[in-house]
Amino acid sequence: MSHTATLPDTSRRLWLTAASAAGGAGIVATSLPFVVSMAPSERARAFGAPVEVDVGPIKPGELQTVEWRGKPVWVLRRTTEMLETLRSHDDLLSDPQSGRRGQQPDYARNDLRSVKPDIAVLVAICTHLGCIPTFRPEPGASDLGASWPGGFFCPCHGSKFDFAGRVFKNVPAPSNLEVPPHHYIGESKLLIGEGPRA
Ligand code: FES
Repeated sequence: MSHTATLPDTSRRLWLTAASAAGGAGIVATSLPFVVSMAPSERARAFGAPVEVDVGPIKPGELQTVEWRGKPVWVLRRTTEMLETLRSHDDLLSDPQSGRRGQQPDYARNDLRSVKPDIAVLVAICTHLGCIPTFRPEPGASDLGASWPGGFFCPCHGSKFDFAGRVFKNVPAPSNLEVPPHHYIGESKLLIGEGPRA
């Protein structure tokens, strides 16, 4: 199963390095010269403007990573099989019904934690100490155990999340991955950073 990412690995590593620096001041100090040299649209994005993603080309099973507010955000088009697994392991999860508030907008507080059933939009930052989990879609992967249904695995301390970003029991991460505000403008245009207008 293939997946694509618009953030190269080096960017992820740089982000991790910045995130692990002591305090936010260090991040601001190292980011400023870069921000000043950006084009206006890039500058707006860096300061939190919504990010538009065309989900049309993302094939079932593919993961795309985009950047929003300096954070990596995954856009995963889930396959039928992935959706089926999400309905079969609630007993293994810490918060299967997304009862903990603040981890997703109200319109994503449903079984699949999404607006469209097949598209998952998740902030790719582990809720334990902020590492970036890896995409591990293969059920029963030898290093994750025969009961592994597929999802996301954090290599830092072993937290596991399913294809909806719901955290498994008995791992260090205390809560589900964050679902950022988002809505669709048209059939395949996703806007990350802004919820649907009332
Ligand atoms: S940062 Fe992910 S498990 Fe600790």
